[in-house]
Amino acid sequence: MMDLFTGSRHAPAAVQPRWQADTKGINPAPVHRRKLVVANWKMYGSLAMCQEAVPLLASVATAEVGIVLCPPAPYLGEVARLAQSTQVQFSAQNVAETVDGARTGEWSAAMLNELGCRYAIVGHSERRQHHHEHDALIAAKAQACVDAGLTPIVCIGESWVERQTGQTEAALLHQLNALLATEGWRKAVIAYEPVWAIGTGQAATPEMAQEVHAFLRSRLAAMDAAAADVMPLLYGGSVKADNAAALFAMPDIDGALVGSASLQISTLLQIYAAACEA
Ligand code: PGA
Repeated sequence: MMDLFTGSRHAPAAVQPRWQADTKGINPAPVHRRKLVVANWKMYGSLAMCQEAVPLLASVATAEVGIVLCPPAPYLGEVARLAQSTQVQFSAQNVAETVDGARTGEWSAAMLNELGCRYAIVGHSERRQHHHEHDALIAAKAQACVDAGLTPIVCIGESWVERQTGQTEAALLHQLNALLATEGWRKAVIAYEPVWAIGTGQAATPEMAQEVHAFLRSRLAAMDAAAADVMPLLYGGSVKADNAAALFAMPDIDGALVGSASLQISTLLQIYAAACEA
């Protein structure tokens, strides 16, 4: 194949450093346990919505309770600009597992970091389903985030059939163990998102979610008790203004990954207020 850069017929050698994102001076986000509300807009929203949401969130955001906006990727630059010098953090909804490459339509963790982004969601069930992402790929994405100084928000969750057939813990362990095989797992945030609760209006009860979170934390503790103690475990799946407080009251629920309810900024503010009061 003709190389367009050099005119040679050989594949290009290693990519020049000047083509790579500059992450100098940016430190990895420290992992500590605090309440965290993550707003996953999926493929919804608009530039105008970002411009409305960020100043409103900035007016209430504190360092003690995190608020992380995950807009569609084309809006990340504008959100980065709007969020500057505020307590509002932002996240990508996906990231590549590689540092760079001829990967049309992808972006790297280092590029996100360069923008001031501190998080990336990886392994959302919609990406597992529609983009055939599997545990090993998701684990590689999580590690790529850590390597570039980002905190991966790693989503795991059982299907309805798995729950009905008593396979919840086995399904979760399968997904979690892939993450635990990475070097950087201690720097992740884990989001427990039962697939049957996502976008259905049928959230897990606080007790059901707590039971799973306690199970996940015990599995983490078996690997590293100190890390398990400080690792944020979020719940996601039909979190609304009226169930957020009860979920946040549970001892092992450190916050929420909120989808559809986060598209109403007033609702998102209510959920954030519930996290602040928890
Ligand atoms: P939902 O989505 O709040 O609309 O159920 C949650 C998610 O997909 O992260």
